Amino acid sequence: MAKNKAWGGRFGDRTDRFVEEFTASIPFDILLYRQDIAGSIAHARMLGKQKIIPRKEADRIASALSAIREEIESGKISFDLSQEDIHMAVERRLIRKVGKIGGKLHTGRSRNDQVALDLRLYLRDEIDEILILFSKVKERVRLRAEELFGVVMPGYTHVQRAQPVLLSHYLLAYHEMFGRDEDRFRDARRRANVSPLGAGALAGTTFPLDREFVAGELGMEGVCENSIDAVSDRDFAADFLYACAVTLMHLSRFSEEMVYWSSAEFGFLSLPDSLCTGSSIMPQKRNPDVPELIRGKTGRCYGNLLNLLTIMKGLPLSYNRDMQEDKEPVFDSARTVKESLIGAALLIQGMVVNEERMRTACDDGFLTATDLADYLARKGVPFRKAHEITGRIVRYCEENRKRLKDLSLKELRSFHPRIGEDVRDAISLSHSVRLRKTRGGTGPEKVRNRLEELKKK
Ligand code: ARG
Repeated sequence: MAKNKAWGGRFGDRTDRFVEEFTASIPFDILLYRQDIAGSIAHARMLGKQKIIPRKEADRIASALSAIREEIESGKISFDLSQEDIHMAVERRLIRKVGKIGGKLHTGRSRNDQVALDLRLYLRDEIDEILILFSKVKERVRLRAEELFGVVMPGYTHVQRAQPVLLSHYLLAYHEMFGRDEDRFRDARRRANVSPLGAGALAGTTFPLDREFVAGELGMEGVCENSIDAVSDRDFAADFLYACAVTLMHLSRFSEEMVYWSSAEFGFLSLPDSLCTGSSIMPQKRNPDVPELIRGKTGRCYGNLLNLLTIMKGLPLSYNRDMQEDKEPVFDSARTVKESLIGAALLIQGMVVNEERMRTACDDGFLTATDLADYLARKGVPFRKAHEITGRIVRYCEENRKRLKDLSLKELRSFHPRIGEDVRDAISLSHSVRLRKTRGGTGPEKVRNRLEELKKK
């Protein structure tokens, strides 16, 4: 008989060794021990309050559960595969500690609503940690943008030099992305923070549970309204994984820039020794492994999202054991996001910007060609025409190996008589940046305003 199992009553034969290993989740869901115990304490208190079990017994159960948490934290106990999952492991330990009254804890509860609760609580805790890391990253972006205010660099489209921008403006672009990432996590937290407990296996329970009380004890915003939905869905976990995937997409783009900006070819910045590693064969190498790994780890977060969506696709309601596979992608993405945010914060703080190199990169590539076209448009030339004239000027420059600013007024006027002395200013880098005064543009005034706003926030 599978006597060593909590569910062994109706079984004749022992569980096959492979099956025991194959079905056990304890090697990974041990990570949920704090949430599992918190949920059980709240459930026990409610059972006592509702007189479903004697109050005294509920109190004993609750304090034994706290003691178990300490035992796990201090490494005093470990669990083996025969305990299947964290829920059974804690319960078994409870019964060892308080005797058979420990067996009353599971009254009016199923592992199906229990595991859904644990995962929701876990996500809430992880999101809180992630949000703290995000605020650190954003703070560092803001401080560097403030410190580097005034540095001009080429902005790119298609990885071709396009128009000059303030480096601060560039950095603040990431601040905006991270702000939206935070929103996505807050959103995911709100949807996760609802209690499924009381759903039982799937149909609700025959005991007079106080579901709202349990939710309140756990600091949750409400209870799931449908018991079948409560144990069936993992959309809240997919929300979290999506937020993780988008975060890594942003961090990966930032990392990509750290990698190629620190190359000899770009030379826009260098990363400090403390954030680089060497090569085992090439003594001269200093490699940007941190941003490379953040970029590489993005694959996990995308994969984890697709993993869960695929697990859930086509599952009939309600709980199916497939759903045990929900945990590892969630754990992996949570860890990856946290590590990547820590790495990003170090990169943002540590990068050493080469202002000179950024500025000289603006000298080639006709970065102010749009400004020349705008200049003509301001003099009454229709923009489309102005664009064409400027295009011809750029071609002339290329043919004569000149930059825009090398052209004499005479040369310029040969393309259009309305070009005057004031064109010099119009095509200067500082002018180009300064004139971009639209809200959200790179004009120093606007960037300064945004910095102030973000500081106040
Ligand atoms: N370890 C299981 C999981 O992670 C817990 C729920 C098991 N429920 C069941 N009826 N076998 O999904």
